[in-house]
Order: sequence, then C-alpha cells, then structure tokens
Amino acid sequence: MENSISETKQAVARKAYEYLATKLHKDCILGIGTGSTTNFFIQELINKKPEIKAIVSSSIASTQLLEEAGLEVSELNDVGSPDFYIDGADEINDRFEMIKGGGGALTREKIIASASRKFICICDSSKKVKVLGKFPVAIEVVPMARSYVARQMVVKGGAPEYRVGFVSDNGNQIIDVRNLKLNVPYDFENEINNIPGVVANGIFAARKADCLVIDKNGVPEVLEQ
Ligand code: 5RP
Repeated sequence: MENSISETKQAVARKAYEYLATKLHKDCILGIGTGSTTNFFIQELINKKPEIKAIVSSSIASTQLLEEAGLEVSELNDVGSPDFYIDGADEINDRFEMIKGGGGALTREKIIASASRKFICICDSSKKVKVLGKFPVAIEVVPMARSYVARQMVVKGGAPEYRVGFVSDNGNQIIDVRNLKLNVPYDFENEINNIPGVVANGIFAARKADCLVIDKNGVPEVLEQ
C-alpha cells in the first residue's frame, strides 16, 4: 500500500534525524524550521533528546512545540552560528534552490538558514520540480508597503494576492505572488529584495540547501549537493 503524504513526511524526518544523529555532539547548535515535515523532525528530537548545546527556532509555533516538550529554545543572537538548519520546502529544484514560506515563517527561516553552516532540507517528493514557480512566492512586507509591493510585482508579471488575516511572527503582512518566471531564481530573489518595504521573500536561492532528505520509490534517501 502506498504511504500517505503524512507518513512519507514522517519517514523523511526520521531519516534526517538518523543522518544527523551521528554528527551531533555536546557543542552543536541546531536550527529548527517550521511546518508539518519539520514538526515530525521536532518529534524525533523530543523522543531522542540528544545532548547538544542549543536549539534556535524559526517560528513561535516551532518554539512552542519544543518548549512544551521541555526542550530549551535559545535566541539566535545569544548563540553562535548553528551547525545545522533543518527545514521543509514548498518546492525544490535539482540545484536545491527552493520556494519556502507557505507557512509564513520565511523571514526567520531565511535568517537562520543563512546563519547556519549546513542546511538540510526535508520534504516529500511531491515538492520536487524542474523549474520553481508553480507554488506562489510569499513576500513578507511592512504593512504600509503592501499595495506598493503588490503593484511592483504586477509590473514584473506576477499575480499578487494579499494573505488576508495573516500576521507574521514579526508583525508584518504577506502577499503571495503567482505566475512568476523563475528560470534564474537567484536574480529574482535579489530583484524582489530591492523593492522598498520588502522584508524577505520565499525564494531560497542565495541560501539554498546543502543536503536534501527526500523519498524515492517510497524510501527516504539523503542527497548531498
Ligand atoms: C513554512 C515553510 C515550510 O517549510 C513549507 O511550507 C513546507 O511545509 P510542510 O512541511 O508543512 O509541507 O516554508 O514557512
């Protein structure tokens, strides 16, 4: 019988933990992402409670899960560079560039991913694409800039939509932009960042993943870049 998406996410998260477990030591700092796949990884951490130095988290939701289970979460400012960052993706291509931010945690995710030595992306194979862009690109904006940024995205050929009622952990708003041609994601990521009012966008090309844990023919495997 075929695995459900949820079972696959759990299998991938377990494989990622298994892979990481051999590399963890008492001075390790771990960065933890956000989303349903990452939640399965958090569960592994909670079950295994490895002896490490610190955990930093990319969202209030992940922090809550960790703290409720008795795991301490540190501020990124108070610890050094994380050794590993573990997080999911909404899309990932062959170069391990990604679209993230479906859950709206993109800014903190990008900060911790960029600060980390190794980014391990964990996702099920439905996220694998040849060209990024079918999944809308989330853009976190300072609230007063929302309409301006949206108009700029229309000029770039995008179809922006305001994520109504959503407020990011940083107190900002999100617009989701469809129809973008992301043949060179790195360039587009920078272009969006140059629009005043943009806090961060969901293209992860400047800081892509170094390692991908993903299912192939029903079996999770670790791919290094
Ligand atoms: C949240 C993210 C998530 O990593 C992304 O949305 C994937 O989520 P899931 O593991 O639930 O499929 O970027 O901002």
